[in-house]
Amino acid sequence: MVPGDEKEAREANGLVVLVADDDPAVCNICREVAGSLGLRVRLAGSTEEALEKMEQQRVDLVLADLRMPSAGGMELLDRLKQTHPQVEVILMTGYGSVETAVEAIKKGAYDYLAKPFHLDDLRAKLQHAVNALELTHENVILREQARGRPGFGGLVGTSPKMQRLYKLTLKVSQSRHPVLIVGESGTGKELVARSIHFLGPLKEKPFVPVDCAGLVPTLIESELFGYVKGAFTGAMRAKQGLVEMARGGTLFLDEIAELPPDLQGKLLRALQEKEIKPVGGTQRVPIVVRVVAATNRDLDQAMQEGRFRKDLYYRLNVVTLKLAPLREHRSDIPLLVNYFLERYNDTHRRVRSVSEEAMARLMSYDWPGNVRELENVIERAIALGSGPVLHTVDLPSNLQTPAAPAAAALPGREGILPLRELEKRAILQAVQELGGDKLLAARLLGIGKTTLYRKLKEYELEA
Ligand SMILES: Nc1ncnc2c1ncn2[C@@H]1O[C@H](COP(=O)(O)OP(=O)(O)OP(=O)(O)O)[C@@H](O)[C@H]1O
Ligand SMILES: [Mg+2]
Repeated sequence: MVPGDEKEAREANGLVVLVADDDPAVCNICREVAGSLGLRVRLAGSTEEALEKMEQQRVDLVLADLRMPSAGGMELLDRLKQTHPQVEVILMTGYGSVETAVEAIKKGAYDYLAKPFHLDDLRAKLQHAVNALELTHENVILREQARGRPGFGGLVGTSPKMQRLYKLTLKVSQSRHPVLIVGESGTGKELVARSIHFLGPLKEKPFVPVDCAGLVPTLIESELFGYVKGAFTGAMRAKQGLVEMARGGTLFLDEIAELPPDLQGKLLRALQEKEIKPVGGTQRVPIVVRVVAATNRDLDQAMQEGRFRKDLYYRLNVVTLKLAPLREHRSDIPLLVNYFLERYNDTHRRVRSVSEEAMARLMSYDWPGNVRELENVIERAIALGSGPVLHTVDLPSNLQTPAAPAAAALPGREGILPLRELEKRAILQAVQELGGDKLLAARLLGIGKTTLYRKLKEYELEA
C-alpha cells in the first residue's frame, strides 16, 4: 500500500479525534498532526465544550489537556468513562507530573503525553491509539460481513469485556513478552493466541501450537526438543522438535498445566537460556521464540499443590490475558448466534432467524462450555431444525425449559449428586453412546477434546 492509499483507507474508516485544549496553538498543532494521520479533527476550548460536541457527533478519540479553566482533562476522562466508555482518551499532562499520568492510566486513559511534547511523540501516540481503534472498528465491520470468512482473528463481540480484550490483545501483540492466557474452556483462548501472533511483528514467522495435554507423556521431550540420530531405537534420523520449528516466531503452549513436572523444568531452562538440547544430543541449539501459553486450570492452586513450578509460572506470566466466561458478557450472545448462523448456513442454507423465545433461552442459559458450547448448539439446531426460523424445540433439552431452581427439580436428598459425579456420568455416557468417538463426544458436550481426554484420564486413575 502506498502511503497515500493508507491515508485514504483510514479516512474511509472515518475515525474522529476531538482535541480539547484552551491553548489555540496546541489545538492547531494537534489538528495538523492528527490530520496528517488521516483522522478527522474537532476542536474544543474547554471540557464543557468538548462534552457538548460529543453529544452532537460521534468521536472515537479524545486528546485532552489536563489543565483547562474550570474542569480539566481528568474530569473529562471521568465523565467519558461513564457516558462514552468506547472512546479512547489521551491526556496531555504538564512536564514532570508522573503521578497524574499514572492516575490517568489507572482511570482508563489510553495513554498520556507530557507537555511540552515533540511532534514525533504526538504522532506516535496518536498512531498507536488509531491502531487500537481500528482493531475494534475492524471487528465490527467484519462481524457484519462475516459470511464464512474468518473475521479478525475470528473473535466476535462488542461488549466492553470484548473491547478491552481486543485492545489488550493488540497491545501485547506489539511486544515479545511472554503472555499467559487464562479462561474457562471454550472462551476463545486459542483464537486470542493466534491473534497475538498474526497482529504482531512476527506474523511472517511460524506459529506453532503445542497441545501439552495431547502429547504422549513418554514422547513429550522428543516432541518438544527433537532428537538426534540414534537417540533411541528407531531414531533412524534426527528430528526437529516443536520448539525449534517455532524459531523466530511464536510457540503456543496450550493446556500448559498438563505438562509433567520434569518437562516443566526442561522447558523453563530452554526459555531462560534460549537454547535447547535435543534428546540424545550433546550440543545445545540456540533458539529464540516468543511464548504464549494458555490454560483453563487454576494455576495458583496447581502451584500450591506442587503440580506446577512457580519459576515457570513467573517466566510465562509476564502479561496475563483473562478471558471472561460467556455468562459474564451475555450481551454478545445475539451477535455470536448470528455469526454462527451465517457460518453454518453456508453449507445448509436453511435457518435465517431465531424466534424471540429461543433467543431468550439462549440469553438466559449459563453456558458452562462458553462460546464453543453456543457454537455447537447453533450448528446442531441448523442441522436438526425444519424451517427458516430456529425455535426453542430445536435447542437441546437442557435449554428448552427456563432454568428452574435446582432444589425444586430434584426428588429428594437421595437424588442429589455432587456436580463432579454428574459431570462424570455425562461424559462417560456420551463416550459410550457415541461408540468411543471422543472428538464428537467433546463437541456435543461443549468441551474441548483436551479437557475430555484429561477427565477420562482422571476417571481411569480413580478406577
Ligand atoms: N469471541 C469469539 N468469537 C467467535 N468465536 C469464538 C469466540 N470465542 C470462542 N469462539 C469459538 O469457540 C470455539 C472454542 O474456542 P477456543 O478453541 O479458542 O477456546 P479455548 O478457550 O481454547 O477452549 P479450551 O480451553 O477448551 O481449549 C472455537 O470454535 C472458536 O472459534
Ligand atoms: Mg484451547
